[in-house]
Amino acid sequence: MNVTTLNKIFLDMFGVLPRQAFFAPGRINLIGEHTDYNGGHVFPCAITYGTYAVARKRDDKVFRLYSTNFPDKGIIEFNLNELDYRKEDNWANYPKGMIRYILEAGYEIPSGFDCAIQGNIPNGAGLSSSASIELLTGVLMNGLFHLNIPRLDLIKIGKRVENEFIGVNSGIMDQFAIGMGKADAGILLDCQTLKYEYAPIKLEDYKILIMNTNKRRELADSKYNERRGECEEALMQLQKKLPIVALGQLSEAEFDENQHLIMNETVRKRAKHAVYENVRTIKALEELKLGNLETFGQLMNQSHVSLRDDYEVTGIELDSLVESAWKQNGVLGARMTGAGFGGCAIAIVANDEVDNFIANVGADYEEKIGYKAEFYVASIGDGAKEIQMEESI
Ligand code: GLA
Repeated sequence: MNVTTLNKIFLDMFGVLPRQAFFAPGRINLIGEHTDYNGGHVFPCAITYGTYAVARKRDDKVFRLYSTNFPDKGIIEFNLNELDYRKEDNWANYPKGMIRYILEAGYEIPSGFDCAIQGNIPNGAGLSSSASIELLTGVLMNGLFHLNIPRLDLIKIGKRVENEFIGVNSGIMDQFAIGMGKADAGILLDCQTLKYEYAPIKLEDYKILIMNTNKRRELADSKYNERRGECEEALMQLQKKLPIVALGQLSEAEFDENQHLIMNETVRKRAKHAVYENVRTIKALEELKLGNLETFGQLMNQSHVSLRDDYEVTGIELDSLVESAWKQNGVLGARMTGAGFGGCAIAIVANDEVDNFIANVGADYEEKIGYKAEFYVASIGDGAKEIQMEESI
């Protein structure tokens, strides 16, 4: 990422230099998938790939935004008095939604701004480029206008943008990981209470590899909302007998005893995943704290199997990558990460096997799927923040 370029682009686009710079990361989820909207636990971390912005306040109420990732869209412009979703505003609907809901939360936005954005998160890869832009806009608004919006409120506003402005019924994991991320730490988050704890990720002899299927995953087009609906149906049927408000409250045994209350077999499988995955996630943190990386890896593998067979959100691309990863030397565990239906998987791989791993899994994948996968080493980084302008000149 060359942020000097971003300053120059800002100058070319807007005719002046920007004043402030901001960064928001992407995220991976180590374990705890499709549990957030079921009131369960997740264990994500922020990565050092992310989205950068340089910006400058304006004297009027106009917002002008440009992204080097979508050059064909040009400068997207709107006014503080017209903050409705507009299809043609494309990616800028994310910042627009943030501005709108920050305003609705009662904060005074004194003027518009000009802003140039550049991201190095592969777009549509399931590493939360959208939540990254949301939180980026949040820290940018705080930084430019000294709004002092508490971090948790920015996270909730980001989720609201996703749910109500964009129309994806996602949980809070992505915004939380991106808002609260800390270098070299995972975040165990209880999505029901929003209690969380950081857990140091000290892998020493291992690396976390991100494996991109290069199959685009569009949440809004995917079966994400359908899965969420199936879980709600399961919960309603369980509630006929059990005094619960979320699937995440159940132990495995409680689920097994009561699963007959769920009439439809598919819906039952979905709920089983939500319950078992939540328990697995809590276990995974315990194992990590004890330094049992091997058990942690096995729990990751079980998570993938459950997402493949019970939740059915993997697909041939993710399964091919993960199943090939399982066969390689020096692999502790591998699983899909994020919503599924394409996007990325992760694997924990011994340092000295990384090159072989990439060569072998890459070849297996290309042979089976017909196009290439991509591999990146993940570094766990900080959450969204203002960065020094010096860093970006
Ligand atoms: C997407 C959503 C998250 C979460 C994951 C699945 O990333 O945005 O809220 O539900 O899928 O774990």
